[in-house]
Amino acid sequence: MADPVTKKQGDPSGRLFVLPSPQELARAAAGRLWGIARDRAAASARAGKGRGTVSIALSGGRAPRLTLEVLSSEPYRGRFPWDLVHFYQVDERWVPPGDPASNRRMLRECLLSRAPVPPDHFHPVDTALSDPGEGARRYEEMLGCAFRGTPGGFPRFDAILLGLGADGHTASLFPGSPALEEKTAWVVEAEGGDPPVPRVTLTLPVLNAASQVIFLVSGKEKAAVLADVLSGRRGELPASRVSPRRGKVTFLADAAAASLPGVKSPAAPGGNGDARKKKGGAF
Ligand code: 6PG
Repeated sequence: MADPVTKKQGDPSGRLFVLPSPQELARAAAGRLWGIARDRAAASARAGKGRGTVSIALSGGRAPRLTLEVLSSEPYRGRFPWDLVHFYQVDERWVPPGDPASNRRMLRECLLSRAPVPPDHFHPVDTALSDPGEGARRYEEMLGCAFRGTPGGFPRFDAILLGLGADGHTASLFPGSPALEEKTAWVVEAEGGDPPVPRVTLTLPVLNAASQVIFLVSGKEKAAVLADVLSGRRGELPASRVSPRRGKVTFLADAAAASLPGVKSPAAPGGNGDARKKKGGAF
């Protein structure tokens, strides 16, 4: 695995990997998801639990698009253990599934219509229900069944893919939002963001129960907030509060997003993001 390239430069935690372009970022992220799914399956087999299942929660917005298109294209499409992985939503805008703002629509376009995901392996928020509060309650009930018996009181996703808003939000947890302060519920309704529609989102305790959290950060407009989050200067930002107790946070950023002095650095040696060239495929 490539070493963090910015441990000494504005990223004391060593969580940042910088890729030269959005395309290389997407390949690195797809490689990371494949590595997580493959390793999880191997661990289950070693534990005598068969190949087990893998749980991955996906954010909306633009960040995951390219990554999911790469994941559902060769070489990953033919290698990824689709029969083991269950996909969930990190958050959803309260709009019909066919609405251009729908995260479910984005996931259908970039992943579900391109890869052999078994129909019962995608778990969407049901925005046909009466209101976001009901949507949140029903999603939490579904998670309760899917993660029955998980110790610790919160579902432990094997991987959660997050974006980073220029205001420091992530999922649909916006600065100053009551949803950000939720301590016990797994899924809540939320307000804010662009588009400014009601939303349903996983809560901070669920994000912080994950085994791996991967932030995908692309574009110059994210450079300032990425620098703030990595440096810890603004610990109150929602994204700064994602810090799994028993998990790992990785920031995958392209050069434009990591372009501020003190953060920018060349791509990781060999970290060209093309996991195909890496032994084992994991970035
Ligand atoms: C949403 C997303 C949101 C997104 C960030 C970054 O539903 O809006 O979950 O949290 O990840 O706003 O969005 P971009 O990747 O489009 O910049």
